[in-house]
Amino acid sequence: MVRPMHPSSVQGVEDMIRLGDLHEAGMVHNLLIRHQEHKIYTYTGSILVAVNPYQLLPLYTVDQIQLYCNKRIGELPPHVFAIADNCYFNMKRNKRDQCCVISGESGAGKTESTKLILQFLAAISGQHSWIEQQILEANPILEAFGNAKTIRNDNSSRFGKYIDIHFNQNGVIEGARIEQFLLEKSRVCRQVKAPAERNYHIFYCMLMGMNVEQKKMLNLGTASEYTYLTMGECTSCEGRNDAKEYAHIRSAMKILMFSDSEHWDISKLLAAILHLGNVEFEGRLGILCAWLFLDMPKTVVMGSHFLFISPQGIYGRIFLWIVNKINSAIFNPASQNPKKTRYSIGLLDIFGFENFDNNSFEQLCINIANEHLQQFFVRHVFKLEQEEYLAEHISWNNIDFTDNHQALEIIALKPMNIISLIDEESKFPKVSA
Ligand SMILES: Nc1ncnc2c1ncn2[C@@H]1O[C@H](COP(=O)(O)OP(=O)(O)OP(=O)(O)O)[C@@H](O)[C@H]1O
Ligand SMILES: [Mg+2]
Repeated sequence: MVRPMHPSSVQGVEDMIRLGDLHEAGMVHNLLIRHQEHKIYTYTGSILVAVNPYQLLPLYTVDQIQLYCNKRIGELPPHVFAIADNCYFNMKRNKRDQCCVISGESGAGKTESTKLILQFLAAISGQHSWIEQQILEANPILEAFGNAKTIRNDNSSRFGKYIDIHFNQNGVIEGARIEQFLLEKSRVCRQVKAPAERNYHIFYCMLMGMNVEQKKMLNLGTASEYTYLTMGECTSCEGRNDAKEYAHIRSAMKILMFSDSEHWDISKLLAAILHLGNVEFEGRLGILCAWLFLDMPKTVVMGSHFLFISPQGIYGRIFLWIVNKINSAIFNPASQNPKKTRYSIGLLDIFGFENFDNNSFEQLCINIANEHLQQFFVRHVFKLEQEEYLAEHISWNNIDFTDNHQALEIIALKPMNIISLIDEESKFPKVSA
């Protein structure tokens, strides 16, 4: 039987709770008609749904920031700023820490949304201070070392990050702390053999942005000369200017107190990784190792362990070192003085769900992390809410939802789960799985 569309579905609604056709097709249709009018944000109750516009819309100006400052949700059209504003004023009003969880598949716009929330918070906490600038400038560094071009997204996060922004009692930003999770280290030595994937941005930026003299000192050429940079058959990325990015990374590093010698040490290690990738085993590997060993910054890699570290191991340690270095500039431990209470807003931005023709172990790890996040969402939006209705004897039609708990149990939670089986199997010399 063909049923006419509910009038709310024809015009579209700002909050999907008001939809007459409250089912998946109705919701997707609502998002579509709004997207066609460049309305990329829609609420579902207190949750904001964002559809990637893939174009710069005039939504993020200083005027827009001021417009959304200190407004109730729903007073203005849905916006990521409204969520950030709500977080900030709830924190101040209720004196409670807040958290924004951003989830979606790869390329959905999580990282861009995180940056917009951060920009909004920095703008409305209103001091234009050095620490705010430092927190904002941590992003280009993290993205250079932790993001790469993939088939799905030209600037795909290959690690998870949790930024905890700290505020004093007056709501002024006084610092932040970044936590990182599970960098996809294997990308350093291997990218999907498809004409779209690249290694981490920093390698290409470095080769495009360094001056001739610096490159000569590190014996570096162009990206096309390195095995590790050409597996994905793609060394440049439309819309990205690697040389310009390099200048930005350099200035961000200065703002975050990386010394010139620390930057140079990192460059040497990155160059070493590229050279190692070109070594053929009949070559002079021993000499190369000795050269690396002498030139390594001791803060990055512990000398005596070096000869057992793979290029991806070196890169993983550089990444950890960089995150620590950033934290040493932006993080101030909480005061012991009980009168100086500190509040925080946490932003979680992880690598999004991925589904390729060929999925490797990395996709399994990324997708497990996303399943956990989905479970958190399901628990909060459906399970806990419905339990509360039951406890308070509110009459309510139970909502059917897809609970991914069983999938998570099989993959990672139950005693004989898939991950523990892989772990056990991989310890044997001749793996059967
Ligand atoms: N609000 C926006 N306005 C304009 N362009 C956007 C917006 N959000 C995302 N984009 C575009 O989409 C691209 C991908 O977005 P983003 O990197 O945030 O995705 P992601 O969800 O973090 O993906 P991944 O899980 O792969 O890290 C951005 O580089 C940008 O070009
Ligand atoms: Mg991202």
